[in-house]
Amino acid sequence: MNDTGVVDILGRPLRDLRISVTDRCNFRCRYCMPRERFGEDHTFLPRRAYLSFEEIEKVVQACKPLGLEKVRITGGEPLLRPDLHDLVSRLNRIGVETALTTNASLLSRQADRLAAAGLDRVTVSLDALDPKVHAQMTDSNIPVETVLEGIEAAVQADLSPVKINCVVQKGVNEDEIAPLVRRFRGTGVTVRFIEYMDVGRTNGWQLGQVVPSADILNYLQKEFDLIPVDSQSPSDVARRWTHTDGSGEIGFISSVSEPFCGDCVRARISADGRLHTCLFASGGHDLRAIIHNGVNGQALTDAISAIWSRRDDRYSEIRSQETSALPRVEMSYIGG
Ligand code: GTP
Ligand code: 5AD
Ligand code: SF4
Ligand code: SF4
Repeated sequence: MNDTGVVDILGRPLRDLRISVTDRCNFRCRYCMPRERFGEDHTFLPRRAYLSFEEIEKVVQACKPLGLEKVRITGGEPLLRPDLHDLVSRLNRIGVETALTTNASLLSRQADRLAAAGLDRVTVSLDALDPKVHAQMTDSNIPVETVLEGIEAAVQADLSPVKINCVVQKGVNEDEIAPLVRRFRGTGVTVRFIEYMDVGRTNGWQLGQVVPSADILNYLQKEFDLIPVDSQSPSDVARRWTHTDGSGEIGFISSVSEPFCGDCVRARISADGRLHTCLFASGGHDLRAIIHNGVNGQALTDAISAIWSRRDDRYSEIRSQETSALPRVEMSYIGG
């Protein structure tokens, strides 16, 4: 450890912690929780296995001296966890930036309470505006209108900048790209296009289904005048572009065509308290067991520091047939 915190084997600090609070979701996006694998008979984590909010608070407190700056609450769908605002207040008291990734289906009635608890920002997953394409992709009967109301509530509650994550899949939602940009231009909401990734082992990912960001940009430049904007920090995952008339920004997350492992400062905790040092990890370190053994405070900080200092993950940079064959945890379990 140095005076700015812990670094891993490749010299990367720990700045960003993403905490999944549930592996359940009320959507069944085909690229994340395909219904044939996450159907009625799927066994989710028992609720008693979840880290309690108090335990999450302990973990975040333990990470703070290591250089942690930002916590993102994820799932599954995190708003399915009752009283999430209570977790937000606990995190807020620790003095880290707090953000939430959600499908926004339950956001309109919770946005104000989350903002009052100190939530800084919200990112919403939205892949299509067309009701048919939306229904097909999310495999649910929750209308896209409900998601749009959730986004509007987040804007009204000033959970800004509100961002939208759109996973683009070839032949599925390419026609939704321009409408999404048109719809949110001038609203202060930033749409980001994400290259479809081989997270987990259930979505049947193939390289041919990925639409490279460069292709999307070329296509959008035919309709919009866009110029690049500098990143705020080297560890930002999105490349930013802005409309020249000042009507807002869009972003590209190109983890397949341009991996960004070199600057990866992100750790992830699953709902059952396993610490993963890469989105593509085969397994995690059982922090819950450590906490249940009475390890707390500085000892917990030391345990996390020891895990991080042994980290050498860079999956997206070394993706190959060999690495693709390794087991990988699911996105709904580890969070985005
Ligand atoms: P802010 O900068 O705080 O707004 O968040 P972010 O840019 O980290 O964005 P967000 O957490 O919404 O991440 C967007 C998407 O990028 C995720 O859902 C993933 O699909 C992808 N992503 C984020 N972090 C990583 C990462 O470490 N590795 C890879 N391969 N993909 C990532
Ligand atoms: N590839 C890229 N992004 C994904 N997400 C979920 N699965 C994938 C995948 N296979 C995104 C969702 C959400 C975030 C949590 O991760 O769209 O915004
Ligand atoms: Fe749920 Fe998000 Fe996964 Fe879709 S991508 S199934 S909304 S966790
Ligand atoms: Fe970080 Fe792993 Fe993603 Fe690379 S693949 S950016 S190491 S989470």
